[in-house]
Formats: sequence, C-alpha cells, structure tokens
Amino acid sequence: TYVVTDNCIACKYTDCVEVCPVDCFYEGENTLVIHPDECIDCGVCEPECPADAIRPDTEPDMDKWVEFNRKYAELWPVITQKRDPLPEAKERDGEKDKLTKYFS
Ligand code: SF4
Ligand code: F3S
Repeated sequence: TYVVTDNCIACKYTDCVEVCPVDCFYEGENTLVIHPDECIDCGVCEPECPADAIRPDTEPDMDKWVEFNRKYAELWPVITQKRDPLPEAKERDGEKDKLTKYFS
C-alpha cells in the first residue's frame, strides 16, 4: 500500500485525490490519509503530491504510518475532489515532526 506521511499535515494540497482510481483518500482537519486495505498500489498519487508526503509502505519505518492511515481512514469522510491547500501550506512544507506539532 501507499500511505500519507508527516509532511501532508498542515499543508493538505489535495492534488492526490484527483488521480486515485479507487477513491481511497479520507479527509481530516489538516491532513489526508489513504485506506491501506482499499489502495491498489498503483502508485499514481505519489508523484502528484507537491509535499512528497505519499510513500510506499516498503520504505523503512512505515508501520506507524500504515496504522495511522488505517485508523483515521475508518473515521473520516472520503475526499475525491481537489480543494485549496491550507493557508499556511507553503510555510509549513518541509518542517520536521509535524505530527507532534500540528496534527488535530
Ligand atoms: Fe490511490 Fe493508487 Fe495512490 Fe493507492 S497508490 S492511494 S490506489 S492513487
Ligand atoms: Fe497531502 Fe500531498 Fe495529498 S500534501 S493532501 S498527500 S497532495
């Protein structure tokens, strides 16, 4: 599966949702997640993210992000259409440890 990771938080560009063939992105207040059981591993969303926040779970230390994505995908509504990024997207892009600092 692919998952959304730290750098989406407080940016939420939403370019990713437009290309997903199975509509498996879910929207929280300041980040998106992918439902790991619905993702078909096509990989087309990965290069679409301006924040480089979408990663394959084959990369090291992805377990916590797979669990994070699964947990919130069950709780949040699906998103299939692009919206405006969050107002501080440009300033926050690339900051470290956004999960601790900004996740809400
Ligand atoms: Fe959707 Fe494909 Fe991205 Fe999975 S890898 S979230 S199926 S676009
Ligand atoms: Fe987030 Fe990147 Fe999508 S910032 S909303 S994963 S385009």
